Amino acid sequence: PGQCVVAVDGPSGSGKSTVSRRLATAVDGVYLDTGAMYRAVTWAVLQAGADLADPEAIAKIALETELSIGTDPLAPHFAANGTNVDAAIRGPEVTGAVSAVAAVPAVRKQMVALQQAIITGHPRIIVEGRDIASVVAPDADLKVYLTASAAARAARRSAEDATDVAATEADLARRDKLDSSRAVDPLKQASDAVEVDTTGMGIDDVVAHLLHLLNSKV
Ligand code: C5P
Repeated sequence: PGQCVVAVDGPSGSGKSTVSRRLATAVDGVYLDTGAMYRAVTWAVLQAGADLADPEAIAKIALETELSIGTDPLAPHFAANGTNVDAAIRGPEVTGAVSAVAAVPAVRKQMVALQQAIITGHPRIIVEGRDIASVVAPDADLKVYLTASAAARAARRSAEDATDVAATEADLARRDKLDSSRAVDPLKQASDAVEVDTTGMGIDDVVAHLLHLLNSKV
């Protein structure tokens, strides 16, 4: 098949990134990590020393930030204003501030437009985020909502970045709450999305399941 857009939404630590990258490779498509876009903008906001409580200042910096967005599922490199930010956007400063930046309506408007342009330019794409099925790609061929128990999500994240499980679980809960309760495009399952609970499922099983769903759709 030619055109194929897959939306993968869900809370932090549900396995979205790993699963989306593997799926993109399996269908010989590209991968768009929209969370990394919000993280890269957050990096620029922190770099500029902007007040996180000032949405106008945040929006201004977001508009001025030149993003380079990698879509290779094996090496999705990101740069902001010419600086590679692959490591920095996973650090605690950015993780602590990203939900505040992503809650600014003007930032979301700009990111969604950018995401839609990238999707238009890449007809075979797996897009992961929070609002992909509902806002960014409402016409996606397959919409998946990945979940996992809070304990499973925290265990995965802390294994990834070698942090304490309890602290990670608290941070995930904090971001889920902010992401689900914000006024613009909150995290929620689209009515036409297939929910996949990955608690206790291995990565190969999840990818195989999604390929099966995709093959029965397109
Ligand atoms: O997926 P990841 O943890 O990298 O996303 C970081 C943050 O970016 C989320 O906590 C959320 O605040 C924001 N985000 C968003 N909409 C998206 C993707 C991410 O608001 N589509």
